[in-house]
Amino acid sequence: MISEVETAMKIGIIGTGYVGLTTGACFASLGNDVLCVDNNEKKIAMLKKGHMPIYEPGLEELVKTNIKENRLAFTTSISDAVKKCEVVFICVNTPPKENGDADLSAVEVVSQAIAKHMTSYRLIVEKSTVPVETGSRVKQTIKVNARKNVNFDVASNPEFLKEGSAIHDFLNPDRVVIGVESKKAEKILRDLYKPLSAPIVVTDIQSAEIIKHASNSFLASKISFINLIARICDRVGADINKVAEGIGLDHRIGKDFLRPGAGFGGFCFPKDLAAFIRIAEKLGVEMKMLKAVAEANEDQKNYFLKMIEDNLWNLKNKTVGVLGLSFKPDTDDIRFAPAIDIILKLEREGVKVRAFDPQAINNARAVLNGTVYAKDSYDAVKGADALVILTEWNEFRQLDFKRIKKLMKRPLVIDGRNIYSPEKMRELGFQYISIGRPTVQ
Ligand code: UGA
Repeated sequence: MISEVETAMKIGIIGTGYVGLTTGACFASLGNDVLCVDNNEKKIAMLKKGHMPIYEPGLEELVKTNIKENRLAFTTSISDAVKKCEVVFICVNTPPKENGDADLSAVEVVSQAIAKHMTSYRLIVEKSTVPVETGSRVKQTIKVNARKNVNFDVASNPEFLKEGSAIHDFLNPDRVVIGVESKKAEKILRDLYKPLSAPIVVTDIQSAEIIKHASNSFLASKISFINLIARICDRVGADINKVAEGIGLDHRIGKDFLRPGAGFGGFCFPKDLAAFIRIAEKLGVEMKMLKAVAEANEDQKNYFLKMIEDNLWNLKNKTVGVLGLSFKPDTDDIRFAPAIDIILKLEREGVKVRAFDPQAINNARAVLNGTVYAKDSYDAVKGADALVILTEWNEFRQLDFKRIKKLMKRPLVIDGRNIYSPEKMRELGFQYISIGRPTVQ
């Protein structure tokens, strides 16, 4: 059950990406007074008008409502947020460097700015995904840059939001993790999350930081694991859906995140795996298992490409209709999307790609310039030698396949997300290839 906070808090959120914006809007909806900061003036101007820089279901409505209720505001001034708010969340980007390390320069810059503007006690909370020991760096940076006699605490409060269901995940968390060093910080964060009635895990800062990286690494491991098992299924004609069900009903394993596919993507799993491997290495621990998870994911994309190639024979001058560009449904995010890698490789081999996605086409234009962007799913398959499914948007589940068959040059569907029934596709007269499921001829 979700209720409102007993005493509204003044909360500053630095960084208005997926995490910052969702966190800010959700804390506001619980009755708090939230000020969101970003150094991107254009973005702040948009947000002030209630326009979203990203597509996230429900976010626009939530932001608009809370602006109207005067509980949510936007600024480019960190100083305003630090002066006004007792609790300041750091939600800036921590992108990967070439070597896999997380680039923490934005976290440092923000920490310095917070320190400069603090005049009384502040709780500074890291919410961005960061490697273990970042909290102590933030604390040190603030200490060095703050005025004398100003008290502060640093805490870690990792987010577990999935893009596409971020608001739901925020308001209905499996758990809230808070890593703190003082009773005062613990009380503030407990009070803040009290309305959500979720289990709260209170720990030290390092443990909280590890919980975040370990959670994402574990989930990514489940996906690479099931993808490898799917490849075995392909070899022997077994059915991965049944195998996943049989494994997942063991509650120690759990049925979630056992969906095979053309690889995982997004701005979290690939970069967090890399960052966790790197930080562990620096601490003298070689994460062989996680390296294999990342490698298996790269292999999975190539495995799927090979499926396409095996079925089309020569790729050059073939036309492929692609449905799905985002790294998963319900988002316009294409960062590390398997679809992008796969299309780039197909195009390099001379394939003409006609792609459709309900939300991600605008973002894709910046990285895929040889692609023809279709106006809908039917337009994508016109004259196609194959239809390839790369993201499981709901609207792709219910297509008029009779119409599709007429539009295609050859009735071949290669499904990287296993969204159709092999029997039904055969009945409709398609050659249907999916991942880890027997091919029905
Ligand atoms: C992930 C985590 O699930 C969140 O808990 C976490 O907060 C977030 O990263 C983050 O660190 O910010 P997200 O990247 O939004 O969330 O998306 P997921 O739903 O986890 O999917 C990630 C990728 O795995 C997608 O490409 C998806 O297609 C793939 N996936 C997921 C599979 O291939 N199979 C599955 O069974 C599940």
